[in-house]
Amino acid sequence: IDELISQGVSGKRVFVRADLNVPLADGVITDDGRIRAVLPTLTALVEAGVKVVVASHLGRPKGEPDPAFSLLPAAERIGELLGRPVAFAQDTVGPAAHEAVDGLEPGQLAVIENLRFNPGETSKDDAERGDFAERLSHLADVYVGDGFGAVHRKHASVYDLPKLLPHYAGYLIATEVGVLKKLTEDVKRPYAVVLGGAKVSDKLGVIDHLLERADRILVGGGMVFTFLAAKGYEVGASLLQEDQIPVVQEYLKRAAEKGVEFVLPSDVVVARSFPDLKAKAPTEHETVAADAIPADGIGLDIGPESQARYAAKLADAKTVFWNGPMGVFEHPDFADGTRAVAQALVDSEGFTVVGGGDSAAAVRILGFDESAFSHISTGGGASLEYLEGASLPGLAALED
Ligand code: 3PG
Repeated sequence: IDELISQGVSGKRVFVRADLNVPLADGVITDDGRIRAVLPTLTALVEAGVKVVVASHLGRPKGEPDPAFSLLPAAERIGELLGRPVAFAQDTVGPAAHEAVDGLEPGQLAVIENLRFNPGETSKDDAERGDFAERLSHLADVYVGDGFGAVHRKHASVYDLPKLLPHYAGYLIATEVGVLKKLTEDVKRPYAVVLGGAKVSDKLGVIDHLLERADRILVGGGMVFTFLAAKGYEVGASLLQEDQIPVVQEYLKRAAEKGVEFVLPSDVVVARSFPDLKAKAPTEHETVAADAIPADGIGLDIGPESQARYAAKLADAKTVFWNGPMGVFEHPDFADGTRAVAQALVDSEGFTVVGGGDSAAAVRILGFDESAFSHISTGGGASLEYLEGASLPGLAALED
């Protein structure tokens, strides 16, 4: 982007593909980390006198307008954070978008509506995607890719549009790629990885990669029950991906052969029903040994003994990558495991990277100081796929 700005771009229309896919509760943004992350790029373009067109997806609407997924709250937040007016267009490639862009003066910004309100954005059909990208291209003279969280998606605005316009990487993408490169190229050991989140099936590729590189893999979140089941434990009514048990057994075997340590909880916090995440009222819950989960028990967090063990496993690590919460951190009764891991990263003197929409949001929602971590990635799936060594469509298109 510095190269673009050095060319003198005042008055040019620049399309910034951001990832403004932020969590919302009743239309209110609960974590604006992804919005703040793209501000350096927006500020630089505004200061260079560019007419900035900002675009993103939000959530997974079904290819048609859906007010629940409007980008308006994100547009308003950009305006608040930059302290300047931001125009908002209620469509993507229609008259409202063109009117908003035509009305921009140098140094002004417009946000267009959620790209996924158009079926062409996510279409698997190259022609349909290409057609939408072509229509988007009429809104701008130059493309800047800065939506790191979406670079693993082969979508019109991520993959096809940069092929139609002169294209550059924004500051966020440059920073994210620089950090993740360190985790794949010259990682300092011991290298500990903490994996959480709901489904083990989302993590298979990254576990494959890590079995060749990491020294320790600490597991929590909903996916841990498939690991416990793979060890022959009863997991009660906890989340379980039964079809993945043989895959996990194979991973445990490979890890033992390679000297990679899988760290699993020795105790878990269970409840009899799933907590109300809105009311956050106190629940009935108990801590049980990981091999003694009652038949009607739903595991919702790692227990206190496991929290201490995990912290000890992270204490001497020179590099830590963490993706996925350890429990249902949105409820205070089940947030301690995630808090303990976040604290262990804060206390670490190593290079600590938080990757993932949910764990990044958890860090901020639980009140941790972001500057206490070496890097908090804005990419969930994107950072995992990067670590797997996959070619990411949004990066490939920019490099082309
Ligand atoms: C994310 O939240 O990981 C990105 O914004 C991509 O969203 P998606 O998984 O809906 O494509």
